[in-house]
Amino acid sequence: MPAAIDVPQSLTLPTPGDTADSRLVRAARGLPVDRTPVWFMRQAGRSLPEYRALRADVTMLEACRTPDLVTEITLQPVRRHGTDAAIFFSDIVVPLQAVGLDIEIRPGVGPVLTDPIRTRADLDRLPELTAEHVEDITESVTRLVAALGGTPLIGFAGAPFTLASYLIEGGPSRNHEQTKALMHGDPELWNDLCARLAQISGTFLKVQVDAGASAVQLFDSWAGCLSHADYLTYVRNHSAKALAAVKGSGVPRIHFGVGTGELLGAMAGAGCEVIGIDFRLPLQEGARRAGGGHTVQGNLDPALLFAPASVLERAVGDVLASGAKAPGHIFNLGHGVLPTTDPGVLTRVVELVHSPVE
Ligand code: CP3
Repeated sequence: MPAAIDVPQSLTLPTPGDTADSRLVRAARGLPVDRTPVWFMRQAGRSLPEYRALRADVTMLEACRTPDLVTEITLQPVRRHGTDAAIFFSDIVVPLQAVGLDIEIRPGVGPVLTDPIRTRADLDRLPELTAEHVEDITESVTRLVAALGGTPLIGFAGAPFTLASYLIEGGPSRNHEQTKALMHGDPELWNDLCARLAQISGTFLKVQVDAGASAVQLFDSWAGCLSHADYLTYVRNHSAKALAAVKGSGVPRIHFGVGTGELLGAMAGAGCEVIGIDFRLPLQEGARRAGGGHTVQGNLDPALLFAPASVLERAVGDVLASGAKAPGHIFNLGHGVLPTTDPGVLTRVVELVHSPVE
């Protein structure tokens, strides 16, 4: 038998959840990586037949609260595509339902609330979130981190503005008119509502990080409908509060919105290491607008996944070339995977990002 070798602790194999040296975490910190890390917003979901099979008899929110399903659905795209991260299968309205709001996710529509929140009395229906409200989330994240090993899990939450829009409008909205009317008409109520939502989102992020998530993303999907001035006056400090809830944990924070080209500097200032950029701006320009010190995430147009292979190949190459000029780059789409996307094309994009055509 060979003599036992005394292995220093620092050279032991990674333990489950040890993701500090993963491509995603390194790129988020602006450190060199062997390949650009890649994952896709909405990678877990309807583009996968194995997802549709699991979801056949379960509502979206039931699925989100069932650890067996959450674990399996989160792992599906990592197994299939070989992405560099898993995104936790959940929804931005899960913590709102957890504190007791009567909310559902209608297929093809989105989150719908029976009774919108529009008055001070309505605020009583929105208590603070505690870890006890979401013990199932802790369980799902714990199981996932063990199953994923060195592959990082990204936790997430909705930003106060985007959540407030669903609560005030009662569902998805094109113009966000009730939301803006309340913001400007009763700024005190607006700020109290958003402060409560910041507590809820911040706690939801912290629960995921405490259970082992390696990074978080704050989704302010609808912030792009705001003027720069309104974003600064009514929105940013609430998002900053939510992001600050996990600052001390040291995990990278990604801040993302759609149509936010004019807001990137303001959003970067809310406190994040990574700024998400949609498909409307080249990454290099997005990085400049964010102030020059952030890793960028993005930004292939999800519609280009339907284009001929040669077009897609060129587009992936262009995103990589632009991202290479930023302090760090995490490859993603400019918004979520569309449900009718061919999953084989997503796998191909991962291959292209990992072995770019010279
Ligand atoms: O793969 C992932 O990205 C992980 C899971 C995830 C979901 N929702 C699952 C989901 C994440 C990160 C979200 C965040 C989310 N939810 C956002 C922010 C991201 C974005 O798209 O800007 C928003 C705005 C929501 C609210 C929401 N939930 C919408 C607008 C919808 C779509 C409604 C529809 O059917 O078109 C949902 C439902 C939802 N969330 C689905 C999934 C997989 C589809 C549910 C189904 O399979 O029927």
